[in-house]
Amino acid sequence: MSSQERHYESHWQEEEYYYQNPEFIGQANITDPGIFDRMSLDNFPECYKEFADLLDWDQYWHTTLDTSDAPCWKWFVGGRLNACYNCVDRHLDSYKNKTAIHFVPELEEEPVQNITYQELYRRVNETAIMLRDFCGLKAGDRVTLYLPMTPELPITMLACARLGIIHCQVFAGFSGKACGDRIWDSESEVLITMDAYYRSGKLLNHKANADEAVKAAEEQGQKVNKVLVWRRYPGTYSSSAPVVEGRDYFVDQLLEKYKRQEIAPASMPAEDILFLMYTSGSTGKPKGCQHSIGGYLSYVAWMSKYVQDIHPEDVYWCMADIGWITGHSFIVYGPLAVAASTVVYEGVPTYPDAGRCWRIAEELDVDIFHTSPTAIRALRKVGGDEPAKYNYSFKHMTTVGEPIEPEVWRWYYEVVGKGKAVIVDTWWQTETGGFLCSTLPGIQPMKPGSAGTGLPGIHPVILDDEGNEIQPGEGKAGNLCIKNPWPGAFQTIWKNKERYIDSYYGKYCRDKNSTDWRDWPYMAGDAAVMSADGYVRILGRIDDVINVSGHRLGTKEIESAALAAEEVAEAAVVAVTDEIKGAVPELYVSLKPDYDPSDDLAKKVSDAVADVLGKIAKPSNVYIVPDMPKTRSGKIMRRVLASISSNKDVGDVSTLANPQVVEEIRRQVQSG
Ligand code: PRX
Repeated sequence: MSSQERHYESHWQEEEYYYQNPEFIGQANITDPGIFDRMSLDNFPECYKEFADLLDWDQYWHTTLDTSDAPCWKWFVGGRLNACYNCVDRHLDSYKNKTAIHFVPELEEEPVQNITYQELYRRVNETAIMLRDFCGLKAGDRVTLYLPMTPELPITMLACARLGIIHCQVFAGFSGKACGDRIWDSESEVLITMDAYYRSGKLLNHKANADEAVKAAEEQGQKVNKVLVWRRYPGTYSSSAPVVEGRDYFVDQLLEKYKRQEIAPASMPAEDILFLMYTSGSTGKPKGCQHSIGGYLSYVAWMSKYVQDIHPEDVYWCMADIGWITGHSFIVYGPLAVAASTVVYEGVPTYPDAGRCWRIAEELDVDIFHTSPTAIRALRKVGGDEPAKYNYSFKHMTTVGEPIEPEVWRWYYEVVGKGKAVIVDTWWQTETGGFLCSTLPGIQPMKPGSAGTGLPGIHPVILDDEGNEIQPGEGKAGNLCIKNPWPGAFQTIWKNKERYIDSYYGKYCRDKNSTDWRDWPYMAGDAAVMSADGYVRILGRIDDVINVSGHRLGTKEIESAALAAEEVAEAAVVAVTDEIKGAVPELYVSLKPDYDPSDDLAKKVSDAVADVLGKIAKPSNVYIVPDMPKTRSGKIMRRVLASISSNKDVGDVSTLANPQVVEEIRRQVQSG
């Protein structure tokens, strides 16, 4: 290994603690710090019984953790349960008239639909019977869902879960081709989609994408026999795509036949598969992360109750898309398992204006809010003063998905949370099913920019490249790993155990033949630093680390420094090869409204970075751009910016949310 690689360094300043208000603690679901002892490694794995006991089981398990096929861990072996029963049926006694799902259409003139647990039960049952009797689907079959953010998505997921059918939901913003690849990989014979949905005020022709998906799957040899089409407006077909006779069916018409029919939930082995969720690795085709029924559901139920602090009387809004793991775990399964009222919002947070989110919060009396740093930055950029205009009141807020710059965290806390909502910064991944690191909101103080400690039962460790433990407080960064298995973890990559073992365990496994979990630390692929109090600060993906003169600089460290300049709304840094230093950072920034680009401002930003992090991090160039290239899910495409910086082909950008900005940036950078 080169001397450059040995040198992990972190340049973060230590931040001050923020303490939650006593009112929050007074009502919190957990305030006893004894939970950390109960969930210690001494009590592992039996301690996870506490999680499983949040669910109703048809049959209790005989083995809490079976490691015989390490590292494919099996949890709660011998147990049987049904995920849909746990999210719907069991709440009917106490909550049948309570709202399960508040559906907020994007068009403000369309009324909110408040679906009670009783109505959810009815709709899920009818849909499940249709899946069985019309589609011929049975437990273990895979079905691809390509649905937007409407109630039909959770209804279809729960209907699958009721019968033990494995759902594979593909984010509706993905191209038909991407969906086709997933149909093929999961070998789905049925595709369930919708004719159209609203995005930024436009009714999108989604059925046309579904047709593309079927075509792409068939080109690879996977035939789709049936395409079930929910209609955004039942009775009216809102797409111009042709209806293929003998293949395409309107769900609202099919359901006529199954009105008010019921079907018993299948009693499923805990270790059977609930769903596949595809995610990207650094190379190769998307990985189908395989999540279990019992382990996953008990994990997300615990997280929803104790980290999200959801009580049945709360109105909880997670602004993610159900097409991502965050939506599966924290819009659908976790909140419904604890009888929450969960909000499903169809559209973009800033449609038709910067106040929309806060109007929804006010109207529905949302008290728990959950979103990502990207959304927070965007909301801050377009309407930093908007939240104050609305009379909502959050007790709890989540940030997830990327490191959040302390500057942005403080805006979230002061302005969105009005200085009173507790914040949890939850670090986790598609693979992990639920949160791994976070503060427990009623127990531990917050620290801007840090995800907190390992949650109860999760034992994180930072390892260097040789596998040595970096001690908390040493100030050095390394690879963030988890010492122990946990029930929410994915079981494997669908049909690719080898890639599963290689990607997550290859680097640090002590003995490939071992069935002792202690030999298999889980490597998350994130660089992180742990401070003396055990709080973990994520520096970014391992491949996002920029190595300048042997100093590893987290892209996030530089971006955060740039955001200290008050004019800056968003920042993205990329590495450009440099003969002398190995790599140098180039910085792209976009400005808040009311500020104009200038050379002076670019210099100010560059100096700010050097001031915070030292000269080593000073960007070789600062480009003030009109907007960042972004994926539909809102992540900044640093890869595209890096290609522009290095004069390389930017590749296919057609799937971005704003492809037109790429050419503008390219001209700006390459002409200067
Ligand atoms: O790099 C970490 C970052 O997002 C990655 C996981 O992305 P994905 O599988 O799409 O899951 C998103 C929903 C959890 C991680 O490897 N990440 C996630 N949460 C945080 C984070 N980075 C910093 N802070 C977080 N809270």
